[in-house]
Amino acid sequence: MNTVSIRTLNDYKAKGEKFSVLTAYDATFSQMVSNAGIEVILVGDSLGMVCQGKESTLPVSVAEMEYHTRCVAAGNKGSLIMADMPFMSYSTLEQGQANAALLMQAGAHMVKVEGDDWLVPLVETLARQGVPVCAHLGLTPQSVNKLGGYRVQGRDEAKAQAMIEHSIALAKAGADCILLECVPSSLGKAITEAVDVPVIGIGAGSDTDAQVLVVYDMLGLNAGHIPKFVKNFMVDGRTPQQAIAAYGEEVKNGVFPGPEHKFS
Ligand code: KIV
Repeated sequence: MNTVSIRTLNDYKAKGEKFSVLTAYDATFSQMVSNAGIEVILVGDSLGMVCQGKESTLPVSVAEMEYHTRCVAAGNKGSLIMADMPFMSYSTLEQGQANAALLMQAGAHMVKVEGDDWLVPLVETLARQGVPVCAHLGLTPQSVNKLGGYRVQGRDEAKAQAMIEHSIALAKAGADCILLECVPSSLGKAITEAVDVPVIGIGAGSDTDAQVLVVYDMLGLNAGHIPKFVKNFMVDGRTPQQAIAAYGEEVKNGVFPGPEHKFS
């Protein structure tokens, strides 16, 4: 696999070709995911829940994100590595710059921040300094306490319209991609059409430019609540490597997500 850059992702969007994203938190999974041709590896702060057994992503520290980013960078074979900036690590511009620097120096090629148009000054600052940014909107797990739970976002007309406007503002500010979590598929489609940067979806329907899942979820290793947008690819006697490759294929061909994985 050739090395993936933000130019590769923009080319996919321009050609209308889908690409895939999976989380990884260590060198073994990183190697498997990149060897399967998955374009982007997300070192998600979901590691707080799936690796550390915490109830939310809030306890994850910058030092822990740095450690896992180094592990993923060590196993990576050419995917683009996106690392989450954890809870309250980008509350001020100074904090955001310093912590983005730590994650980029640990091996990330892009950082991801959760929020809406309040992120515009940070995105502009990081973009000026050569740091690619993904803006995560919709269900933003770092705000779970403010949202009152893990719920579908943008269901009413005013909130959907605001999310479209915030996505446009963030893309104009220099965000290199947008990630939408748990929004109605019609909103996923509207935002994908409204911005010229790639849109990655999780529970955002099949019209986004790319899909992302937590790797343990798509391997059927999640013993707890299985969200509606998750599909288990570890079926038909597949090895984990084959299951990851099948996910990449199904995203490329538009088979995943199916109607049963969407919110209306
Ligand atoms: O932390 C994470 O894994 C994420 C995905 C669920 C998008 O942000």
